Amino acid sequence: MRLPILLLLVATAASASDLDWWKTALIYQIYPRSFKDSNGDGTGDLNGITEKLPYLHDTGIDAIWLSPIYRSPNYDSGYDITDYRSIQEEYGTMEDFERLLNVSRSLGIRVVLDFVPNHTGNESEWFNRSIAGEAPYNEYYVWADGLNATYDNGTVYTKPPSNWISNFRKSAWEFNEVRGQYYLHQFVIGQPDLNYRSNYVQEAMKNVLRFWLDKGVSGFRVDAVNKLYEADPNNYGGVYPDEPLSGAANAGPDDYEYLSHIYTENLLETYDVVYSWRDVLDEYITSQGEYKIMMTEAYAALQLMIRYYGTSTRNGSIPFNFSFLGDINKNSTAWEIKTVIDRWMTYMPSGRVANWVIGNHDQSRVANRQGVDRIDAMNMLALILPGVTITYQGEEIGMEDGYVSWNDTQDPQACNTDDPINYYLHSRDPNRTPYQWDSTAHAGFSNTTGSTWLPVADNYLTLNLAAQIANPKSHYHFYKDVVTNRKSPAIQEGDLDTRALSESILVVTRLLPGEAGMLGVVNLASEAQTIDLTSLRLLPSDLEVVASGVNCALEKNATLTKSSIPVSGHCALLFRSGVVSYGGAASTHYLSYPLILLALASYTIIRTNFS
Ligand code: GLC
Repeated sequence: MRLPILLLLVATAASASDLDWWKTALIYQIYPRSFKDSNGDGTGDLNGITEKLPYLHDTGIDAIWLSPIYRSPNYDSGYDITDYRSIQEEYGTMEDFERLLNVSRSLGIRVVLDFVPNHTGNESEWFNRSIAGEAPYNEYYVWADGLNATYDNGTVYTKPPSNWISNFRKSAWEFNEVRGQYYLHQFVIGQPDLNYRSNYVQEAMKNVLRFWLDKGVSGFRVDAVNKLYEADPNNYGGVYPDEPLSGAANAGPDDYEYLSHIYTENLLETYDVVYSWRDVLDEYITSQGEYKIMMTEAYAALQLMIRYYGTSTRNGSIPFNFSFLGDINKNSTAWEIKTVIDRWMTYMPSGRVANWVIGNHDQSRVANRQGVDRIDAMNMLALILPGVTITYQGEEIGMEDGYVSWNDTQDPQACNTDDPINYYLHSRDPNRTPYQWDSTAHAGFSNTTGSTWLPVADNYLTLNLAAQIANPKSHYHFYKDVVTNRKSPAIQEGDLDTRALSESILVVTRLLPGEAGMLGVVNLASEAQTIDLTSLRLLPSDLEVVASGVNCALEKNATLTKSSIPVSGHCALLFRSGVVSYGGAASTHYLSYPLILLALASYTIIRTNFS
């Protein structure tokens, strides 16, 4: 009895779309340094983002996620935060942020921020007070005494508290002369790890969430969440236990891959912290009339990932699904891609929301990872599968990794290799080069007279947004057409079916009774093929092309039947079908007609009330 009343109350404060928006949101990741420079200093900024919001609105984006915009010395491109509550000067001011928020809101675009809970920057006030031993900051970080050790020649020395290695190479411990202890940094030296065994830290971080929620943001992407906890020395005789060797080939003693990280990631305490953040976000549903999204970043085994969703009694986050990044490459077959999709859908707990990530600021671009020929296919798959889609800036036009010389390299993951020859194998700079808006100087990213913070990729003269807008047969128009059709009831709510018809033909259907069906077809091979989909019995026979990729001969608006569909090599097509019936006419027994009518009537009522 109480639930309907509660629902009614919530429904009066917030519309159904404000409560459900996140379940099928198209989220666009903006890397602020590289999106748009408004003041000519060669670095992207908040006003640049605001200037481009109409473009994102026009493209059909539901929300933007901004990589960190907070004050930072940039040892790790803003993921080393000096102050969680202030804006990085080169990006603008708090007023600029508030304007961005207001303009976004007026365009119907929600704003999601990056929340970096594992570490602060080493220039933060918290860290300085911790160094000074001032309570309660003294326990904010993971501090430990060094261990006494003896060289073979008998000389005694102090070594770090354990053999742990930073994600960016070399010891994860750094000695601090003032405090006389080592602190843990799972990433660069300038990113000291926070101590989640401190209740003060737990509370302080919740208050950071509240600070931005009070400003009206629509949620958070949570950084490196599976690194929050490390083994508790109390369970290991008072010391931090060494991690065992992984045995990984090609990993040297300084490389992160050298060890098996059984004591420094995926500790079970992590999940409760995530659930507690969910509770904080939920405090705002009634007051702000909007559900707040939380997406967590963890590169971990699937079984560990899905626990972030929550339990039967607690809600959690949407764990980023990185399987398109890690498990699909240039040579993946339709069989393999189908398996990757099905795997997430199979493991995801029932009733939770799926998500698809095809790129981000840490990974090579789709064009390089999966091949230029697969840009449309990967964009389409991510957009037509159930749940949330995350597009990294530039993927909608198929940007490629740029060349960044050793001298221009900024990424600590590359700099820490100390290897001017092979650094690029580790560098994330190539996928962070400035957005290619047009063919003018600096690709229209900046009007600086100097240089941009990272060089613009050479191919910008031909590969840029303006050129693609002018060309109806472009990645951008294909992306936009798919996004338009993503709003259809079938893609929003329809049942999913994936089929690999052969090694190279992948078919995805989204069918919802009473609505036009949607059908995505991908040909991974270079040869054209004609396919017969009569075996998909629930799919209506009449089809119309609603989005046609750059390699397809079939054009938009072409009509055909499902028994014979010609698909060019490396082509991705999206079709709309006729209306999906409520049951095969031939098999419908006359006794079931009243039931069907009843179902139709209730369905219409529900849709009218909640859409
Ligand atoms: C996440 C970020 C990455 C950053 C790291 C440390 O993986 O995506 O860019 O370097 O965390 O904050």
